[in-house]
Amino acid sequence: MSLIDDARAVRENAHVPYSRFKVGAAIRAASGRVYVGCNVENVAYPEGTCAEAGAICAMVAAGETEIAEVAVIADSPVPVSPCGGCRQKLAEFGAAAVPVTLATTDGKTLKTTIGELLPGVFDAEQMSRV
Ligand code: THU
Repeated sequence: MSLIDDARAVRENAHVPYSRFKVGAAIRAASGRVYVGCNVENVAYPEGTCAEAGAICAMVAAGETEIAEVAVIADSPVPVSPCGGCRQKLAEFGAAAVPVTLATTDGKTLKTTIGELLPGVFDAEQMSRV
């Protein structure tokens, strides 16, 4: 099963009564293990969480902190684009060269990287004087 297939499967569990927009994400960590997440919305709208954030939380809770590959899928006209917050979250655990596949449920894909998704990332180096 490919990483996109994992993201496609977990997308079915998304809790999206407000947007009706289901998203699935899958992360392959350095160990080779795969962690998945879906978006989980809340009646207090800002409390909702993105699929990517869920997958990252699952990875970290399992004791891993290095992302090797990412896949995200949604039923959108073009491959779904991670929000700004999720780009920063991905950059926390993945190098700039880490491959990211963005996909639509009808088979369109866009291959990019964490670095392309967030040029000029704020990182710990910038706090070296602290
Ligand atoms: N969403 C994600 O889960 N990931 C993305 O990459 C884009 C947006 C979710 C957040 C919200 O539940 C819904 O999609 C609509 O914004």
